Formats: sequence, structure tokens, C-alpha cells
Amino acid sequence: MTTVAILGAGRGLGAAVARRFGRAGFAVGLVSRHQGHLDALAAELGQDDVQAQGFTADVRVPATIATALQQVSEALGPIEVLQYSPLPEQAFMRPVLETTAADLRGAVDFSIHGSVAAVEQVLPGMRSLGGGATPSILFVNGDAAVRPDRTRTGTSVAFAGQAAYAELLHEVLGEEGIYVGQLIIGGQIIEGDPEKDPDALAERLWELHTGRDTFRIQVGVD
Ligand SMILES: NC(=O)c1ccc[n+]([C@@H]2O[C@H](COP(=O)([O-])OP(=O)(O)OC[C@H]3O[C@@H](n4cnc5c(N)ncnc54)[C@H](OP(=O)(O)O)[C@@H]3O)[C@@H](O)[C@H]2O)c1
Repeated sequence: MTTVAILGAGRGLGAAVARRFGRAGFAVGLVSRHQGHLDALAAELGQDDVQAQGFTADVRVPATIATALQQVSEALGPIEVLQYSPLPEQAFMRPVLETTAADLRGAVDFSIHGSVAAVEQVLPGMRSLGGGATPSILFVNGDAAVRPDRTRTGTSVAFAGQAAYAELLHEVLGEEGIYVGQLIIGGQIIEGDPEKDPDALAERLWELHTGRDTFRIQVGVD
């Protein structure tokens, strides 16, 4: 069985992606800060015949990311797909003139240092996957990643940095068969919406993983 690790796995998009990849035969490593939430989510997914297990990490603390992703691969098997999609804190979304250097540090740790730490951890394993594997690294962001928002300075600056990192990875890792892509979601995720329901968005991430050509899909961005 192959494994998807979801960094920032909650009941919204995280759960929908777990179900989408689980349906295709993936075991699912759920990673977030709260073991209780993860255990409850893993139990729900189990009722839908998805093999899932929770592991704690705080993406603002790189060593915890490395440990959790190591635990995912030991418990569930080598990670073929990594999704980086923790939900940013409100504290990162302050007007530009009220944002200090100290305010930016949290957002940069969250979006940039965290994603680099996650990629560093999974890359050796992805490179050693056997023939037939289609390793992917998927990033999920709000539209501040491509269109800075003066009222959401931390996420605008840090998402843009993460987007640049992801696009560079797309170019370089594509040459060795590791796909890197990004889903941009404009506005809110909305249950029941034809485009922005978590299941519809999970399908777009599945399309990125299986299509392996386009770097970025944007949903709900004018
Ligand atoms: N929700 C929206 O309306 C919206 C809109 C545009 C884009 N997005 C993007 O969609 C993705 C999130 O989807 P979702 O909102 O449906 O979320 P979700 O999958 O329901 O949950 C995301 C999880 O991230 C975890 N998280 C937050 N901070 C973390 C940290 N420091 N370390 C580790 N885990 C952390 C939280 O769990 P713990 O509390 O247990 O850590 C949370 O449950 C993100 O990439 C976000 O940028 C969301």
C-alpha cells in the first residue's frame, strides 16, 4: 500500500483529501497539533474503509515535522504523496501598516520554514520509491499567495514565498519524476458549493497528482 501524508489535516479539506486518496488505495497519515482530533478523524475515516492514523506536529517547529513524517512512513509505508495544507492563524492576517517584523516571523515559520522542513524529510524516500510510483508534493493556499491582500499581510507575504519555493521545486524535481503542484482557493471553502466544497477541491488535488503537468490550479479566483 502507498501513503499520503497530510500536514495540517482537519475535518475540512484534510478529511476530504484523505477520503479521495483513500478511495484510490492510499493509507493516510494525518498530521496536526492535536492527537485527540486526529484520532477521532482517523476513526471516522476507518468507518469509510480508509486506513488512517494520526501523528502530532506543529509546522512552526521543524523538528516535529521531521519526526511526524518519519513516524508516518514507519507506521504506514513510504510516503508517495505529501500535502502541505495547515490552516493559517488569524494572527497572520493583519493590515500591512500594523504588521511588525515580529508579526511576520510566525507566518514565515508556518508557510516557508515548515514547507522546506517537510520537503527535506520526504524527498529521500520519494527518490527511492520503486518503478511505477508517482511521487507528488502538493501545496494548498488561499489567493493571497498570488494576489497580496493589504488586510492579510502575514499570509500574503509568506504564501507568496511558499509559492515561489513550490514553483522552483516544480521545475527542478519534475526532471526526476517528482511532481510538485499548488492549489489556490479564492475566498472561503464552502460546503455544498460545486467548486469550493472540500470534496470538489480534493478532486482537484487528485487531478494535480494524476495529471502531473500543470503547476497551479486556481479555484474561485476572479
Ligand atoms: N478554510 C478556508 O476557507 C480556506 C480558504 C482558502 C484556503 N484554505 C486552505 O485550505 C487548507 C486548509 O483547509 P481547511 O480549512 O479545510 O482545514 P482542515 O483540513 O479542516 O484543517 C487544517 C488543520 O490544520 C491544522 N493546523 C493549524 N495550525 C497548525 C500547525 N501550526 N501545525 C500543524 N497543524 C496545524 C489544524 O489542526 P490542529 O489544530 O490539530 O493543529 C487544522 O485542523 C490550507 O492550506 C488553507 O490555506 C482554506
